[in-house]
Amino acid sequence: MKLANCSFNAANRIVVTLGLLLASLILVSHLPLKAQEGKKDELQPIPVIDLKRTTPIEYNTDVAPILENKCVVCHSGKITEGDFDVSSYEKVIKGGRKRGAKVVVPGKPEESFLFLACARRVRPIMPPKTEPPLTPQELTILKLWIEQGAKAPTTSRIRTRVVLQLPPALVKPVRALVVTPDGKQIIASRGNQLHVYGLQKIGDANKKETVDWVHQRSLIDPGIQLPDGKVAGAAHVSLVESLALSPDGKTLASGSFQEVVLWDLANGQIRLRLTGLADRVTALAFSPDGKYLAVGGGPPSEEGELKLYAVPSAQLLTEIKNAHSDTVLALAFSPDGKYLASGAADKFVKVFEVPSGKFVKAFEGHTQHVLGVGWTPDGKRLVSGSADNIVKTWDFEKGEKIRDIPGHQKQITALVMVGQTPQFITVSGDTSARWWNADNGGTIRIFGGAGDFLYAVGVSSDASVVATGCEDGLVRIYNGKTGALIKAIAPPENAISK
Ligand code: HEC
Repeated sequence: MKLANCSFNAANRIVVTLGLLLASLILVSHLPLKAQEGKKDELQPIPVIDLKRTTPIEYNTDVAPILENKCVVCHSGKITEGDFDVSSYEKVIKGGRKRGAKVVVPGKPEESFLFLACARRVRPIMPPKTEPPLTPQELTILKLWIEQGAKAPTTSRIRTRVVLQLPPALVKPVRALVVTPDGKQIIASRGNQLHVYGLQKIGDANKKETVDWVHQRSLIDPGIQLPDGKVAGAAHVSLVESLALSPDGKTLASGSFQEVVLWDLANGQIRLRLTGLADRVTALAFSPDGKYLAVGGGPPSEEGELKLYAVPSAQLLTEIKNAHSDTVLALAFSPDGKYLASGAADKFVKVFEVPSGKFVKAFEGHTQHVLGVGWTPDGKRLVSGSADNIVKTWDFEKGEKIRDIPGHQKQITALVMVGQTPQFITVSGDTSARWWNADNGGTIRIFGGAGDFLYAVGVSSDASVVATGCEDGLVRIYNGKTGALIKAIAPPENAISK
């Protein structure tokens, strides 16, 4: 684990995006895809051209960048459509679920589904119609590679990050969000950007003062540049998948592909960068005393990565091996700071000792990914929300489930405890946010008005400000006491087009 003291000089990364996938793109792209299937409208095949190429095609330098550019979004990480994964040569050769070895038949492009689908000569065409097709040049490279025997890489992989911008479908959704404890700021992630909103006094023409939520700044890593050398205005190269605030509300941690950045919220500067994480960082949590930062993620279906760092030194204290068998998606420290609870794609809620990382207990019962966890203030109960639509409460001492709390109609995507109470708020794909009481499983309030899938939720410590993050790109701010929608904030002007 390398910890770079984050001076911007370090970052001479020419940017771009990795096009790592986001469920949102899938959501966006799938519906139209389904609708199109029946329609045999005329798609022109893409022609093969004469490249006048004299050197052999090399996988890493010629082929991988094309796959990274046009396929990774649906064929790597959490999403591998048709069980086809383009993240390594071996996986490409292995092929997918239906077509297996017929995906790449060495020496025979005309029998290889990969070539034929990319050439738009068989259905389903790849990439699907909703995405930019291959250029004749790219197609020809794939064809030549297969023709020449679909050989393994002969160079070591240089991850020149493909130079393109995040597709708009990825940029808009608010995937993660936090509200400062004092309820005066909200930080939301959209694509690879971080937008900071603040409650500010505004004097109107009659000198009457009102307060309103305004976009104060975006958190920007100036080392991330566009191909033309301009600062991209991004916080990370890839998507921001997780956020956490230190208990004093001064430090923001943001998690993205293989890295975590700690930001000083007072001036928007980067304080530290944690690198060397295995895959996307999908969960972050500060301990109640602010001394520890827990970082969760890990490659899908392989292992859950769970690491504990000291703050502010950012020294790696513990790597909890085999914490989960799949990506860690939710983290929460117990109120006394002695335990760390985790929820993962392996459907388990687990508890580990802090800082040793010693396994304490596992809670089994969810039938889908666990996307939210929390503790009641007495530290006696755990709450968890899952893609199985159910909230569960658990008795920590006994290691048993207390109750199932149904109500959401679709997957629960995030959960946040409300101040020092046994109450919590969940958001769901069913477009609602719900405020619950863990004592009796009752619903205290429902926050409606969102027209689309919700991913993120935050609340101030006195519960006066509740904010949600939505697929439609809006941050919705509610009066927590009344449930009234105060404002729905669209992405800043330049956020999408950049
Ligand atoms: C927007 C999402 C999307 C993108 C981008 C995309 N694919 Fe696919 N791909 C799919 C879906 C969905 C399927 C499953 C379709 C089926 O098998 O009916 C699929 C299936 C496949 C399969 C079949 C696997 C098997 O054995 O069944 C191959 C091969 C494939 N894609 C290659 C590619 C390549 C190469 C690219 C990039 C040039 C690409 N795809 C880009 C969505 C995508």
